Amino acid sequence: MRTEVSQAARGTLALLAAALLALGSAAAPAAEETGAAEGAKLGADWQSWRAKNDVSDMPSVQRGARNFVSYCMGCHSLKYEHWSRLGHDLAIPQALLEKDLLPPGDKTTDYILTSMPAADAANWFGKTPPDLSLMARERGPDYLYQLFTTFYVDPTRPTGANNLRLPAIAMPHVLSELEGLKGAVFRTVRKSDGGSEQVLDHFVPLAPGRLSATEYAGFVRDTVNFLDYVSDPTQTARHALGVWVVLFLLVFTWLAWLMKREYWKDVH
Ligand code: HEC
Repeated sequence: MRTEVSQAARGTLALLAAALLALGSAAAPAAEETGAAEGAKLGADWQSWRAKNDVSDMPSVQRGARNFVSYCMGCHSLKYEHWSRLGHDLAIPQALLEKDLLPPGDKTTDYILTSMPAADAANWFGKTPPDLSLMARERGPDYLYQLFTTFYVDPTRPTGANNLRLPAIAMPHVLSELEGLKGAVFRTVRKSDGGSEQVLDHFVPLAPGRLSATEYAGFVRDTVNFLDYVSDPTQTARHALGVWVVLFLLVFTWLAWLMKREYWKDVH
């Protein structure tokens, strides 16, 4: 009985999903950008494409902060983080913070805000660049890593670049001078429902960038690491504290056991 019900429920769900997918592909291309078609265009498993970042790696997070200021802050803000907080957490001395990272005219008590007016950005790119404070928590570090390693040249796009992770992305490939340019070669695969779809076969290098492939992966990893830190600034401290809390509980359990033994020793 139970299995029948759940099978019927599953059937209905599948129908609903199919109907939604059909609707989505007809009416709302946005659905493709966020989830439904995930993996479809890659032809491989997104799971194997990991950031492998480590937020407790302080030099990496510091390099990421530098990358953010040089390559992202022209368009994106981190509206929940003060410069002073960043300096404190990343152990950047105030003088260095002011000299290397702070935009001219900003104070350390200010939030990390882009100087690009949102209205202009919307005009230029068709979309306002989103605030990146919580982006790593919303999408996950792996997603961000995938986003920055799957840009490819696509002359049909206004920016000349497209992206496998976020098809029809409005953001230009801002790291192309570092990564270089690559094209994507697709192949057609048959789907089980009789239709076909284009999936990535391989990338072809078109022009070299300033960094080697390994260096570029490291650059992206540092940047993702930094965004991961920003999205939850106390996580490293919390994890470190967690170890002490568990140790304390273990010692406390041992003491409690000793006390129990002492109390009960005369009862038997
Ligand atoms: C020239 C302006 C510009 C620069 C510089 C820029 N971005 Fe963007 N970014 C955009 C725009 C525009 C969007 C909106 C894209 C969309 O929704 O199609 C965006 C979107 C994003 C998103 C959200 C993607 C999603 O899934 O919705 C992330 C993450 C991001 N940018 C990260 C970065 C990082 C990291 C850097 C620095 C390495 C950077 N951006 C530099 C303009 C920019």
